[in-house]
Amino acid sequence: MISMTSCPSTDRNVKLNDRGVHNSVNHKFDTEVSECDFEEGHYARKLTAEEVYKLSKDTQIVNDFKQKKLEKEAKKNWDLFYKRNETKFFKDRHWTTREFEELTSHYRIHNKIQDNQEKKLILLEVGCGVGNLIFPLIEEKTNMFIYACDFSPRAIQYLKDHHSYDDTKCFAFLCDLTQDNLAATIAPSSVDFVSMVFVLSAVHPEKMKAVLTNVHQVLKPGGLVLFRDYGLYDQAMLRFSPGHKLSENFYVRQDGTRAFYFSEEYLSMLFKSAGYEVVANKYVTRETVNKKEGVCVPRIFIQGKFCKLLSQ
Ligand SMILES: C[S@@+](CC[C@H](N)C(=O)[O-])C[C@H]1O[C@@H](n2cnc3c(N)ncnc32)[C@H](O)[C@@H]1O
Repeated sequence: MISMTSCPSTDRNVKLNDRGVHNSVNHKFDTEVSECDFEEGHYARKLTAEEVYKLSKDTQIVNDFKQKKLEKEAKKNWDLFYKRNETKFFKDRHWTTREFEELTSHYRIHNKIQDNQEKKLILLEVGCGVGNLIFPLIEEKTNMFIYACDFSPRAIQYLKDHHSYDDTKCFAFLCDLTQDNLAATIAPSSVDFVSMVFVLSAVHPEKMKAVLTNVHQVLKPGGLVLFRDYGLYDQAMLRFSPGHKLSENFYVRQDGTRAFYFSEEYLSMLFKSAGYEVVANKYVTRETVNKKEGVCVPRIFIQGKFCKLLSQ
């Protein structure tokens, strides 16, 4: 049993080894440990000694054969996810205009950004699922034309069946972001904003740059990617039991869908490597209540804005 004493939190990132944990981890769990001995994590999430120990012990990596199968079946596994959950899993994302005020017409008018009925601004929502992000925007009358794509045929069908789907306001299409060229459907350099919300985490890390490059082609110079996803040391990452780890910070869920947990450093490096400028990139902390277990769960997300340079 461990008992902890708290210590002041520090505002710096600690150096992590290739398993995402500090090198000096070597504890005895039958002794009393002070949390100060385990300054692990980052400014948004300090890990307890127990969590550091759990991460450091999780060294078993899913074998190559299974990893290849998961990659091959990524689309099928997400489509089965929507077969099981239909439209009930994700809540509508009503926070997008609060977090990304560029999406509101108020912001655009204030900043004298072109916004009129004849030439609407264009938003592309990638990995749109069943439309939890786009329908609040349509219902809030944000007055944009929205392209929405996903590789799950079921998700796209649910989205098209939604009572607010209106083909004068949006166009939904199938696209595997890792292999289908977005510019085959959308004119190159024509999109003002791309929303990428809990999508890149589902992509194999080796293919993330290709996804960002794909998006880059259709984004206008000066256009923005509005990004939110899972952050490093999110509680969901800490809860994986052994046998679910695919590579550093990358895990597979029970249903075969995968999740990567981003550090600020990694995300910044990734976008820069695909030709973007980093406008914002920060961890976001939230607490969600797990009613079944009666506990508060600390969630770590990462939120950013990444710009296609004007000269590109
Ligand atoms: C966690 S859901 C997020 C859905 C939506 N963005 C939202 O916020 O509600 C991840 C979505 O990404 C889609 N996805 C994963 N990999 C993809 C890929 N390579 N190409 C296109 N869509 C993908 C999945 O089908 C799924 O709908």
